[in-house]
Amino acid sequence: MSFRIIGTGMHVPSKVVTNDDLAQIVDTNDEWISKRVGVKERRFSEDEFASEMGLKAAQNALENAGVKAEEIDAIFAATVSGETSSPSMACMIQNGLGVSCMAMDVSAACSAFLFLLETAAAFFALHKEYNKILVVGTERMSGILDFADRSTCVIFGDGAGAAVLERGENYLDSVITVKGGDTVIKIPHGNGNSPYFKREQDSPYIHMQGQETFKYAVTAISQDVSTLLERNHLTFDDIAWIVPHQANKRIIDFAAKRLGISQDKFFCNIEKYGNTSSASVPIALDELAKSGNLKRGDKIILCAFGGGLSNAACLIEW
Ligand code: UT7
Repeated sequence: MSFRIIGTGMHVPSKVVTNDDLAQIVDTNDEWISKRVGVKERRFSEDEFASEMGLKAAQNALENAGVKAEEIDAIFAATVSGETSSPSMACMIQNGLGVSCMAMDVSAACSAFLFLLETAAAFFALHKEYNKILVVGTERMSGILDFADRSTCVIFGDGAGAAVLERGENYLDSVITVKGGDTVIKIPHGNGNSPYFKREQDSPYIHMQGQETFKYAVTAISQDVSTLLERNHLTFDDIAWIVPHQANKRIIDFAAKRLGISQDKFFCNIEKYGNTSSASVPIALDELAKSGNLKRGDKIILCAFGGGLSNAACLIEW
């Protein structure tokens, strides 16, 4: 019991921040960011919260799928940079769409879109009456960046991506790994107001050990993609596209090299948006779908990695 993706959507804020713009406030330069990360510009929100971006991406996906919001049986959403922990992001988006249906968040940082798809597959199997599920990843990463930490703040951007799933048979296989409690990526909550609490707390920004994460990511992509191919008796010739989490162009290049395939097999749009965490895979998928380079029946692999630590991949027939 699984699903097929019948529509994708995205929304990014209008404010474009180039590497040169960032170099005005951070000790960095366009050459370093372009070479080491592959980002040329990112969007930073001036007036939209993550839930508002998520709502717009959801509306865009519904429109592209030709589906009315009332037809949705469940909304699953993900964020690490939402404006509230409660209501959840999924509840905020449900409210914005003006519908009443099952709605909940799944927390898995940059891997989260893959976790949302897996959750949706489980709910389709559990609830025979469910026919359509909306999944949304949305981030205002600019709100949790420490602009004094130049190796981390230059890679991220804001945006939202969404997909409408319909009961079907096209979610062919998936692999999910969680290495719980590893804090090479950490986003502490700023909830230290108790007069009784005696422990020191980290600042409420994203803290990342870049090189450790980099190594984890290259291994995760290569292993997950290989597992899906082997388990399904496929070769790279059978795969039209690999759509990876857009964290660093060099991670994608290293993974391609390790897998012995051309980087062209990987869809990449990091240069325009940077790393938008849970939104990066659905934004990439939406741009790929709209590019006309994806045909119904194509087999694609989505893969992601991030905080948790976690990594996941899935094989989909488009
Ligand atoms: O989506 C969640 C998962 N996250 C990721 O996948 C991120 C994975 N990691 C990375 O993409 C990379 O590790 C970073 C882009 C975050 C950092 O790149 P790096 O090559 O690991 O740089 P580094 O932090 O080890 O720094 C290398 C050098 C240092 O200079 P020295 O000590 O060698 O002279 C840094 O001070 O680069 C310097 N540097 C910079 N220079 C200009 C670090 N950041 C910058 C910067 N501009 N923004």
